[in-house]
Amino acid sequence: MDIQNWPKLEAAFPPDAALETRISDLIDQMSVEEKVGQLIQAEIKYVTPDEVKKYHLGSVLNGGGTYPNNDKFASPEDWLALSEAFFAASMDTSDGGVAIPIIWGSDAVHGHNNIVGATLFPHNIGLGAARDVELIARIGQATAREVAVTGVDWTFAPTIAVARDDRWGRTYESYSEDPSIVADYAEAMVRGLQGEKLSKDFLRGEHLVATAKHFVGDGGTNRGIDRGDNAVPEAELAKVHAAGYLTALPAGVQTVMASFNSWNGNRLHGHKYLLTEVLKNRLGFDGFVVGDWNGHRFVPGCSVDSCAAAINAGLDMFMVPSDWKALYKNTLLQAKSGEIDQLRLDDAVRRILRVKIRAGLFEHQRPLAGKSGIIGSDEHRGLAREAVRKSLVLLKNNKQLLPLMPSQNILVAGDAADNLTKQTGGWTISWQGTGNSREDFPGATSIFEGISAVVDKTGGQAVLSEDGSFSADTFRNGAGPDVAVVVYGEEPYAEWHGDLANIEYQMGNKTDLALLSGLQKQGIPVVSIFLSGRPLWVNKEMNASDAFVAAWLPGSEGSGVADVLFRDVEGQVRFEFTGTLPFSWPMYTHQTVLNPYHENYEPLFALGYGMQSHTRSSVNRELSEVSETYTEGALEDAWLMVSRPRSPWNLYIQEEESQLVAVSGNLASSGVDENILVSSIDMESQEDARLIQWKGLRSGSVQLTANSDQDLSRYLRERAALTLDIRVDQPVTKPFTAVIDCGEGCVGKVPLQSSLQSLPAGRWTQFSIDLQCFAKTGVDFTQISSALRLESEGPTTLALANIKLVPEAAAKAVVKCKG
Ligand code: BGC
Ligand code: BGC
Repeated sequence: MDIQNWPKLEAAFPPDAALETRISDLIDQMSVEEKVGQLIQAEIKYVTPDEVKKYHLGSVLNGGGTYPNNDKFASPEDWLALSEAFFAASMDTSDGGVAIPIIWGSDAVHGHNNIVGATLFPHNIGLGAARDVELIARIGQATAREVAVTGVDWTFAPTIAVARDDRWGRTYESYSEDPSIVADYAEAMVRGLQGEKLSKDFLRGEHLVATAKHFVGDGGTNRGIDRGDNAVPEAELAKVHAAGYLTALPAGVQTVMASFNSWNGNRLHGHKYLLTEVLKNRLGFDGFVVGDWNGHRFVPGCSVDSCAAAINAGLDMFMVPSDWKALYKNTLLQAKSGEIDQLRLDDAVRRILRVKIRAGLFEHQRPLAGKSGIIGSDEHRGLAREAVRKSLVLLKNNKQLLPLMPSQNILVAGDAADNLTKQTGGWTISWQGTGNSREDFPGATSIFEGISAVVDKTGGQAVLSEDGSFSADTFRNGAGPDVAVVVYGEEPYAEWHGDLANIEYQMGNKTDLALLSGLQKQGIPVVSIFLSGRPLWVNKEMNASDAFVAAWLPGSEGSGVADVLFRDVEGQVRFEFTGTLPFSWPMYTHQTVLNPYHENYEPLFALGYGMQSHTRSSVNRELSEVSETYTEGALEDAWLMVSRPRSPWNLYIQEEESQLVAVSGNLASSGVDENILVSSIDMESQEDARLIQWKGLRSGSVQLTANSDQDLSRYLRERAALTLDIRVDQPVTKPFTAVIDCGEGCVGKVPLQSSLQSLPAGRWTQFSIDLQCFAKTGVDFTQISSALRLESEGPTTLALANIKLVPEAAAKAVVKCKG
C-alpha cells in the first residue's frame, strides 16, 4: 500500500491546548471501566438509563424503525424525554465516576425519518439530480433543526458513497456516480448539519454532529453486493470512493463510520492502514470513528461480543445494538490484559470526548428541544418541495407534451400515484420503509394530491384511477382523459434487501408496462413519472410513454412534482425542468456499472443528461426492447429469494388444494391451527432467512410462484443448479419433495427426504439440485409458474436462505441426475 495515493490534508482544526488539557484532566480521573464504557454504543431497545449510568456508556442509537417505548407514534416530547433520561443517567455520579454526557445518534438520512410527521426530503440520489450545492446545505440545516427538537445529538449522515453498480441496494443513498458531485455535496451537507466550522454556532443549538459514512469504498463492491468486497486499486479508492472524505474532513465532520465492506479482502472495521494511517494520520481526522451495526464481527478472529482487533486498528466506538454487555465485559478484560493497547484506548476516549466537548454536550444547551412545531414545519416542507422540483429529470418529451395545461381532464394512474410509502422509500419510519400507510404521514402530500391541488383550481379535473380505467362519467364534462399521468416504480427497500441480480424493471412481471400500453392504445398521451432508487432498464416502459420523468424517491412533498408538470392557466411554464442525471441511464441490462470513465460508454442517457421543456425530444425513436444482452457475457445467477422473494417470484403457503396464502410480512401461517408457519429469521444479517415449520397435520407446501409463466430454459441449457442455504431444525421423517411447476398439468418432482436426512442437524449448509433432475421428470423450462415448491407430508422444520439458480453449478450439485 502506498500512502502517496492519498493527499496530505491539513488538520481541520487549529491546535487547541485548552481543549486538550480539559480532555486530559477528564481522562486522568476515569477508571478503565469508564473508559471502556465510552467505547460502547447500545441501541435504545436494548438499554435503559440505569444501565447507561452503571456502565458509563458513551452512546446510544436508535436503529431504523426503533422508537422510544417501541411506539411508532412516539411524539417529539417522548423522544426528548428519553433523551433527557439518558443524559441525566450519564451525568449521574452518585455511584462515583466522572460525569460524561452521552451522545445519541440516529439515521436522519432524508430528514428526521424515524419520526412520524417529519419533513422527508428526497433521498440522496434525487438531490444529486438537483446539482445545487446550497440547497444541500439548507436541507442539512433544516434536518438538524428537526432532529434537535427531539434531543438527538448526532446523525449518521451524510452517506458519501460513490455508487458504481446500480444493483447495489444503497444506490439511492449515494448522491452520484460522479465523485466530484459527491465531493461538493459532502462539504455542503456537513456544513448544513454541523454549522460553519469554528463559527460560534458550530455543532451547537440548531446544529448536530454529522457522520461521513461508510469509510471507505462502500459504493464500489463487486457486483454491487452490499457489505461485499471492493477490489479497486488504491489510487482509485482514494480518487473515486474517498472523494467525499476529502471535502467532509476539511469541513470539520466530527465522526466517520467504518464500512461493512472490505477492501481487497480485508474488512474495514479491522483495517489499521485505512483507519489509522490514512484517515487519522494522513487525512488529519481528529474526531472519532464509529463502527457500523455489529460490523466488527466480520473482522477475522472477532465476534459480536469480542473484538480487540477493531479498536487496535483504529475503531473508536463500537455500534453494538443488543450484545453490548458481553462486548463491554470482554473489551474491559482486553483493556486490562493489555490486548488492547492502553495508549490506543486513551486515544479513542480522547477522540470521543473531543467531539462531545466541541459539540457543547457538557453545557447541555438545547434551544430547540421540545419545540415540536419545527418538525414538519411549512418552511421545511417548502424546502423539500423545492428539492423535489429540482430533482426531476426529464428524459423523454415527445411533441413537447410537458409541461401540461392544467385545465384539462387528467387521468392519474399507477400504484405510486397516491402512495407515500413508495414515494418515500427505505429508511422511512421503518428500516425498510415497508409497512407504512397514509396515517404514518401526517402533513405529507402524495403526487396525486399535488396534481389535484393544481388542476382543480384551474377548471381542469384530476381523477385518480390506479388501474387506469375510466368510464363516460369519470370526468365532469363527460369527455375522456386528455392525458394520463402514470406514477409507478420500485417498492421500498434498504441496504442489502435492495440488492438486485438484474436491473430490468419488473422483470418477468410487467404490470406497469401493460397499464401504459393499454392507455396508449386508446390514443391517450401518456406521461410516466418513474419512482426509483436507481436507474433501471425501462426501454419498454419508455417506448410506451410519450413523456418520461425520473422522479427518484421524492419524499413527503409530492406537490413538487405537479409544480413542474403543469403550466399556469395562461400557459406559461411555472417551473422549468432543471434536474440532470446523477447516474448514467442504461441502454442494456448488462450495463450495471456504467459511467463516463469507462471505455465504450454507451448509455441510453449519459450522466448529466436532462431536458428542459423547450428541448426537442431526442427519444422519438423506438428503443431496443431486447433485454437479454448477456449473450456476450456470462448468464447471471437468477435470484428467487435472497433476503426477500425477488420479482417476479412471490412466497406462498399452500395446503393441499386450498388457496394460496401470501407471505408478505415477517410472519404468516396457514389454517386456523397454523399447520404451516413461515417466519423471518437471521442467518448472517437481519431477516435474511425464513424458518418454515410444518406441523404435519395436513400435507402442504411453501412455494415461490410468479403471476405469469417465466422462461428459464437458458438456465437449464447452461447447466444450472437450484442452490440454497438450509438448516434442518427438525428431522424429515415423511416424504418431502422439491417441485417445479410449469403451468396446468406440467410438473417435475425430486424426492428429497433421504438427502435432507443426511444433512447435519441444526447447522447451515449449502444444498443444491441439478436442474436436469426436474427436466427429466417432466418440467418444461420455457414456462415456469413456480420455480420451487417444497412439499412435506409430515412434520419438519427447515430454515432456508439464498435460493438461486446458479449457472454451471450442476456438476457440483448435491443432488445430481445424469442429463
Ligand atoms: C447501516 C448504517 C446505519 C446503521 C444504524 C447500518 O446497518 O449500514 O448506515 O447508520 O445501520 O442504523
Ligand atoms: C436496524 C437498522 C440497521 C439494520 C442493520 C435493522 O434492524 O433497524 O437500523 O441498519 O438492522 O442490520
